[in-house]
Amino acid sequence: MSEYQKLIDGARGAAESSQNADELALARSEFLGKKSLLSEAKKGLGKLEEVQRAEAGKELNEVRNLIEEVFEQREAALQEETWNLQFESERLDLSERLESLRRGHLHLITQARDHLEDVFVGMGFTVAEGPEVETAWYNFEALNIPDWHPARGNFDTIFVNLGSPEEVMLRSHTSPVQVRTMENQQPPIYVVAPGRTFRTDNADATHLPAFNQIEGLVVDKGITMGDLAGTIDSFVQAFFGSEVKSRLRPSYFPFTEPSAEFDISRPDGSWLELGGCGMVHPNVLSNCGIDPEEWQGFAFGFGIDRLVAMRFQLDDIRELVVNDARFLRQF
Ligand code: DAH
Repeated sequence: MSEYQKLIDGARGAAESSQNADELALARSEFLGKKSLLSEAKKGLGKLEEVQRAEAGKELNEVRNLIEEVFEQREAALQEETWNLQFESERLDLSERLESLRRGHLHLITQARDHLEDVFVGMGFTVAEGPEVETAWYNFEALNIPDWHPARGNFDTIFVNLGSPEEVMLRSHTSPVQVRTMENQQPPIYVVAPGRTFRTDNADATHLPAFNQIEGLVVDKGITMGDLAGTIDSFVQAFFGSEVKSRLRPSYFPFTEPSAEFDISRPDGSWLELGGCGMVHPNVLSNCGIDPEEWQGFAFGFGIDRLVAMRFQLDDIRELVVNDARFLRQF
């Protein structure tokens, strides 16, 4: 037997160093194939005497069995390695599944809208609403923008094919809610109206064709530009933090006189334009059945999406609407 021990050890060494099925088959044929030492030895048996032949044949068979076992074991080990690799690569990660079942939350815009409402409700305002499809009266005329007025062109309005041409439209701002509120409610009025607005803009990094604005309207006795500036300042500090300042810059809107744009301060000291505002134009008050001699008011309006984009430093406002969960989940 000992003369075969070297052969068995050699076979074990060759089997262990085989790294895959092909290498193992090669090694196997070297030790068990037709040209192997074992096969040669078997052929030599014929030359032996009968008694010796039986003895030697039995021994050869045992050696062959041992070597076969060596290769079988190695084959099984290699197979297991392959399976493990496959299991690893095809593994179903159940924690991923759990993650996809994670509870959702309100969209960033909705959160901002709720927050804005909270801040204004805290300042004594109520929340008003209006339809997204408007008529020219509410979107323009009552707001002191007659059909010949050049400002109509600034609104890039999306018209609806109903009634006479350019009579029905998707509202291009939330200002028509001012008109609806004044029509339905006697002063004093303190309302904010958040909602969706629409323009023919193509979506780009700073524009969306469907966007969100929030409108503010105050009508009371003895209201001045100082009340407007103070309200904007209080809102800005409640929303952004006490270190943020606001300022008004003269501007023009048909529905306010005087009109202004308001900016907020950035940490680097520069100013960022947030929205428009002004003292409600006397024509707008009269259009809504309110006597401008008796009542005064201010109004303001700004984009919620832009506010969010600046607050969270989004490079591209479209992030808000493409519904990529990886983006939305961060907020
Ligand atoms: N409606 C204006 C716009 O969409 C914003 C605006 C400006 C609203 C002045 C106001 C205001 O209430 O007083 O561009």
